[in-house]
Amino acid sequence: MESVSKNPSHSLSEDRNHSFKSLLNQIVQDRGLDFRQYHQGLIKRKIAMRMRSHKVESYAGYGRLLTKSPEEFDKLLEELCINVSEFFRDKEVWITVKYLLENLIKQKKIRNDRSLRIWSAGCANGEEPYSLAILLQEILRTEPWAFELELAASDIDKKALLAAQAGAYPKENLKNVEDRYLKNYFITLADGRFQVKDAIKAMVKFLRLDLIRDDSIREADVVVCRNVFIYFNRSLQEQLLMKFYRSLKAGGYLVMGKAEILLTEAEEIFKEVDSNARIYQKKEA
Ligand SMILES: C[S@@+](CC[C@H](N)C(=O)[O-])C[C@H]1O[C@@H](n2cnc3c(N)ncnc32)[C@H](O)[C@@H]1O
Repeated sequence: MESVSKNPSHSLSEDRNHSFKSLLNQIVQDRGLDFRQYHQGLIKRKIAMRMRSHKVESYAGYGRLLTKSPEEFDKLLEELCINVSEFFRDKEVWITVKYLLENLIKQKKIRNDRSLRIWSAGCANGEEPYSLAILLQEILRTEPWAFELELAASDIDKKALLAAQAGAYPKENLKNVEDRYLKNYFITLADGRFQVKDAIKAMVKFLRLDLIRDDSIREADVVVCRNVFIYFNRSLQEQLLMKFYRSLKAGGYLVMGKAEILLTEAEEIFKEVDSNARIYQKKEA
């Protein structure tokens, strides 16, 4: 436990909160990752797991351990980033996403607009942007179109980005992948994992980007940011929605996660397109 403050008006829990905040400040200073506005309950649970595994009882003690052990720092960040994902996560949503992309491409053809920019923000190990790449390949088979595609995929977590670039996954991450997609877009590795083919890999550009601190991608037709908002508090969600608003072209689309609902304040700038798939469209200014 933290030592109790000499100031009698300070309660034990206030001290503990203070050292929790100091620990989060230490993470910002040492690793440049800012979890101060994430849901604190979730962050506390994750840190507590790491503390238990080292039998450390105080945040201050754990902070000292982080200073001594870069390996433990890496493990903590891995835990905090939560990279769980899978191909075509929430399968039914992707039927709508495919339909949306088909329509977007049809409209662009009519306007003779030959660019398509999609941003998968918070892409974890790459399953989401590769799912998008597969859908685009499928659409282009029936709707050939010579165009310039930019499919950017970003995450804060370097390790996840390396895994994404390698593009090899265990079978359980592919349970929503149709057999014909599996056959056409993956190769089976000797260890039983599945790797996306080079043609799919070549469509995606991975980059490290902190959604809170860094500039966003501009002039996007579609931003897919799923299962990332859930970790942020309300004010951070607001900031991020504004960021995506600025990021999107007029009439561009924002795809959020199944469990994520647009803040009421954002209804002035985004129009709901599909409530089930959580797809929103940027309103004209
Ligand atoms: C649960 S995964 C979501 C993966 C994928 N979008 C999906 O829905 O399956 C959340 C991802 O958000 C990333 N993330 C968390 N905070 C971030 C931030 N500030 N900037 C960029 N990425 C962040 C994490 O590293 C993690 O890979």
